[in-house]
Amino acid sequence: MKKGKVDALLGIVFGDEGKGKVVDVFTPKYDIVARFAGGPNAGHTIIFEGKKFVLRSIPSGIFAEDKVNIIGNGCVIAPDLFMQEARELETAGYDLRSRLHISRRAHLILPTHRVLDRAYEAAKGKNKVGTTGKGIGPTYSEKASRTGLRVGDILENFEQKYQALKARHEETLRHLGYTDYDISEEERLWMEGVSYMRTFPLTDTEVEINRALAEGKNVLAEGAQGTMLDIDHGTYPFVSSSNTVCGGVCTGLGVPPSAIGEVFGIFKAYSTRVGAGPFPVELFDETGDRIREIGHEYGAVTGRNRRCGWVDLVALRYAIMVNGVTQLIMMKSDVLDTFPTIKACVAYEKNGVTTADMPYDTEGWQAVYEELPGWQTDLTGMTSEAEFPQAFKDYVAYLERHLEVPITILSVGPDRAQTIIRG
Ligand code: IMP
Repeated sequence: MKKGKVDALLGIVFGDEGKGKVVDVFTPKYDIVARFAGGPNAGHTIIFEGKKFVLRSIPSGIFAEDKVNIIGNGCVIAPDLFMQEARELETAGYDLRSRLHISRRAHLILPTHRVLDRAYEAAKGKNKVGTTGKGIGPTYSEKASRTGLRVGDILENFEQKYQALKARHEETLRHLGYTDYDISEEERLWMEGVSYMRTFPLTDTEVEINRALAEGKNVLAEGAQGTMLDIDHGTYPFVSSSNTVCGGVCTGLGVPPSAIGEVFGIFKAYSTRVGAGPFPVELFDETGDRIREIGHEYGAVTGRNRRCGWVDLVALRYAIMVNGVTQLIMMKSDVLDTFPTIKACVAYEKNGVTTADMPYDTEGWQAVYEELPGWQTDLTGMTSEAEFPQAFKDYVAYLERHLEVPITILSVGPDRAQTIIRG
């Protein structure tokens, strides 16, 4: 029998590309939808049957009855937030236990990891990363230090293991002089979340996925965050703490590289970034404000203003390279509908040096732009490529020429119907 494939759907810039909507369009083609990295720092907004959900840890295939959804070993999970997220779905009538499996190897985010996240940020002074405060960094650090707790740990002697780790965290916090916190209520909910999680299938998801592949089933690996927030390839140290790139699919789900099929790279017609760190295309003017306003660019998890700018071809080319992107998906094209000119960053410049390649240290670089005419036409009602105004067709062709990968899906509005698949 022909083996199945794992296709990856990855944010290739700073996350928040609107993967949620596309996964929803994609899921009918897959048997399994799996998250391979990150945790509740992600926020995938999905409108399903008229109701809005923000998924953090749960894969976006959860709405389809016949799919298996997996939270893979590369993820980190906070039981209290998981419970909150899952209960919302249960209240809306979705039966989760039959379709959501959690890896026993995924790591647990403790309440004290969240306190440590805040304490480390506070200690950084001016160099704050601007984390989501969900304890992501301390949990992955603990995983690498080989002292973390995994989902499988909740099945045996858990209280003892939890108290030992918590005591160590408290000691670290005392050393940091960070003692003004009270997690008693949070801890109560967290423990309730642990009991709740025990009612779910906690499995060896890597075995399950590989078995499914051997049976010819197909898997969609759903990314979180984006390539520029990858711990190795992003704008370090202003990054998240996991591998968000395609290589992370292999380690975060336990699948071999040979199982990877298509790599869909998702990006917006412009750029955004949440949190601190270099962002050469950032616009501090009215144009940036207009993009934010029209694109509703406010964080799904933190509600923070997203920093906005024009599309960054330097970052996109780099991301396409490290991920091996085979198809591109451009979201939110309609946000640029009213601009008379559109810019694209083709290179970075610093101290008289110009580079079209992603520099090691993106700090202090200025964007070098090319200008294109805007289409100044409402794209939101268009249902086929043939209806597109010439200037928009030219923008798409220009991007494809620079990126050397076809843009196969174009989104022209928030609704699922406003997704144009190019022939
Ligand atoms: P952390 O992942 O909470 O440690 O945050 C590290 C950096 O990644 C911060 O700049 C966050 O704003 C950013 N970040 C984390 N998750 C997301 C996401 O889902 N979308 C966009 N930015 C994110």
